[in-house]
Amino acid sequence: MHYMNSNLFTDYNIHFAGQEQECQAFFTYKRIVLIADARTNGFCVPLAKTVLPVLQNSSLIVVPTGEENKTLETTQLIWQEMQRLQVNKNCIVVIVGGGVLLDMAGFAASTYMRGIPFCNIPTTVLAMVDASVGGKTGINFLGTKNNIGAFTHPEFTYINPFFLQSLPQQHIGNGVAECIKHALLSSAKEWENCKRQIDFEYFISNQNIKNSISTKLSFVQQDPTDKGIRQALNFGHTFGHAIEAASFQTNKPLLHGEAILIGMQIELWLSHKKYNLSKEITDSFEALVKRLYPSLQSNCKTESILHFMQLDKKNDSAIRCTILKNIGEPLIQQSLTLSESIEALTQCPYLI
Ligand code: GLY
Repeated sequence: MHYMNSNLFTDYNIHFAGQEQECQAFFTYKRIVLIADARTNGFCVPLAKTVLPVLQNSSLIVVPTGEENKTLETTQLIWQEMQRLQVNKNCIVVIVGGGVLLDMAGFAASTYMRGIPFCNIPTTVLAMVDASVGGKTGINFLGTKNNIGAFTHPEFTYINPFFLQSLPQQHIGNGVAECIKHALLSSAKEWENCKRQIDFEYFISNQNIKNSISTKLSFVQQDPTDKGIRQALNFGHTFGHAIEAASFQTNKPLLHGEAILIGMQIELWLSHKKYNLSKEITDSFEALVKRLYPSLQSNCKTESILHFMQLDKKNDSAIRCTILKNIGEPLIQQSLTLSESIEALTQCPYLI
């Protein structure tokens, strides 16, 4: 059970629209290097420079966008550009982008010269409620998600829903999936609010973004390096990550959040079947997904999903999964047999 704790925002230097002065105070460094991708360089970088004028005097690195570019090769490009621009520990890197860019450029900054300071300006819902907070940075490697990475916290994170104005609906939905996950992990009150929504509007409100971040940080604070209870945040991800990776081998690659929604349906089904989670919760989750994501579907094959589940860094000899006993009551590291996993995949209405 979790209640919003705004001290967490101070502890992790998370600032919101209206707190630009607090962010400006971090720029005591000699030089500022912005990292953006082609999308964020168009709308979000000029906006960031307007709200934080200190950014007007900065160098810029633009990197290729999208999950398929979250690679060692793109990380190397960032390191090369940093070296060309003579970036050093007297510089601060400002990353303006979605989850892929924040994870990758955060990793590049935290390994370049054994770590130079960076800060996050998330420009998608997913990045605001998940990637920009909690200190995980990383890249995909040999087809496995986020397999190489480090825990490094940004100097600060600046969150302003104004950046979402140019974000396509499908990408709003991508981040809302993580908000839904946080509501399930939070409290009955949060889930009651979440489950009755008919569109994405509530989810991108300041209040929901704050609640969602607060839920994530309450787990991060108890277990910063993901050895125990933070793994509750992996709810939906044992199946979801594998479905996401398997979908890249089909003609219909899924966004991260779409795959996690499918993963959550599967892990809620298992929670009901094996741990007596109320059917009312699984039904209301499915009704919510039907309203918000009417065309959610994937043609990934079961064998391909199982292959990626076995590669997942969350699993040892068994498949490990976060289960929900009730809203706000996750059970981490529950083991699943292969036949339970196959049965769970077979019942999933979004896998055809
Ligand atoms: N995205 C899950 C975590 O940061 O632990």
